Amino acid sequence: MTNIASRDRRVAPRAVAVIGAGYVGLPTAATLAHFGHRVVLAERDPGRLEALRAGRMPIVEAGLAELVADGVVAGNLRFEGSAVDAARGAEFVFLCVATPQGDDGSADLSYVEQAAKEIGPQLARGAVVVNKSTVPVGSATLVEQVIGRPDISVVSNPEFLREGSAVSDSLHPDRIIVGADDPKAAADVGALFSGTGAPLIVTDATTSETIKYASNAFLATKLSFVNALAGLCEEVGADVRDVLLGLGYDKRIGFEFLQPGPGWGGSCLPKDTRALLHIAQKAGYDFSLLAGAIASNEQQLARVVAKVETACGGSVQGVTVSVWGLTFKANTDDRRDSPALEVARRLVTLGATVRAFDPTVAAVEGDAVPADLAGLDICSDPYEAATGAAAVAVLTEWDEFRWLDLARLARLMATPRIVDARNLLDPAAVRRIGFEYDAIGRQ
Ligand code: UGA
Repeated sequence: MTNIASRDRRVAPRAVAVIGAGYVGLPTAATLAHFGHRVVLAERDPGRLEALRAGRMPIVEAGLAELVADGVVAGNLRFEGSAVDAARGAEFVFLCVATPQGDDGSADLSYVEQAAKEIGPQLARGAVVVNKSTVPVGSATLVEQVIGRPDISVVSNPEFLREGSAVSDSLHPDRIIVGADDPKAAADVGALFSGTGAPLIVTDATTSETIKYASNAFLATKLSFVNALAGLCEEVGADVRDVLLGLGYDKRIGFEFLQPGPGWGGSCLPKDTRALLHIAQKAGYDFSLLAGAIASNEQQLARVVAKVETACGGSVQGVTVSVWGLTFKANTDDRRDSPALEVARRLVTLGATVRAFDPTVAAVEGDAVPADLAGLDICSDPYEAATGAAAVAVLTEWDEFRWLDLARLARLMATPRIVDARNLLDPAAVRRIGFEYDAIGRQ
């Protein structure tokens, strides 16, 4: 393994194709165009493609529209409807298609395989295929087999973008990981990102694929520890915010990723953590620590639901509850595997009428209601959502929830009670207005 801190920021322009304009492909394509490469982004969904061509972003991501527009204006970024057309003539083809979770916890590689099968015969001689999708250990070999051409190398280059800050994470990554059995191909892929100035780690494909899962599983385990610690703080009367401040100043622990919440979710942490556990089980390795982190996350969701029940006098049956936030975290419109949405749904199942507000969710009627929102009354602002409610549950850390008129809120509610599952509000300020207030890991 080589660890090279790249200093040379001059980048030789290369011809790149990116397959899939989702949360990973779109920022990746725009970033590569920003660094001067000639990028063709393939998106097979006609609606998405048309939106992209018109300058409309299919996802909520700060700074993305601007970065994409810059690439288009500079002549470095264009869009295609077919992966084959995009890949033809490219020196590097990035696979950024979805790898959803299969029934047994393993990653479903059918989109990756399909894309590899389609583009394989059309690739230019000596082209390099890059696995950017999160894939199980051994997938680089699998893609090599699907393509079946000795002149084509497959490189693993996992992404570490966070939704909501994907543009900044792409332009200023902590590290670039490239792994391949062909070290020249790996180094060439690393060189595409030399403009970022990030440390480059060149390794084999298996190690690179493991780094991706291990990173997300470690972050998930860190959060499970934080949430469990918050539960302990409630039992012993400690304040988790001060406890974490005390921990964070230890440089080996750090302050990042220490916010307690309703549990970790999204399209990556849960899927990748379960996938790593699946890999361990298949390898006959007892990774009980990871199984514990997953079980602990489930307990956290149940704890938050129980807090809302307690706030409502022990049961939510027949009670109106207000929920603030439905996305899996703030600054994204993504509700996949969202702890907030899961808490809201469980409250509905327990017999509550749930009035919900999220800045990215609009109220719609009839067939237009997305399946995951069925049973929720979607409101157009937090006050409307709280009207007549016995309690408000703050589930996503949208900044606007910090700056509301609490006196107005109290007047609108049936009973002024808040369960703050993101520790967003100031307990003293809220109680001064007359609210009953419960948070995570603090009195
Ligand atoms: C995660 C990783 O952070 C990225 O590095 C990775 O590239 C990405 O998955 C991926 O594999 O594509 P993301 O899914 O955008 O990024 O979300 P995170 O910011 O990691 O948050 C995950 C969950 O943890 C959210 O539910 C969030 O609310 C929760 N969280 C996060 C907390 O409860 N507390 C924190 O301090 C941080």
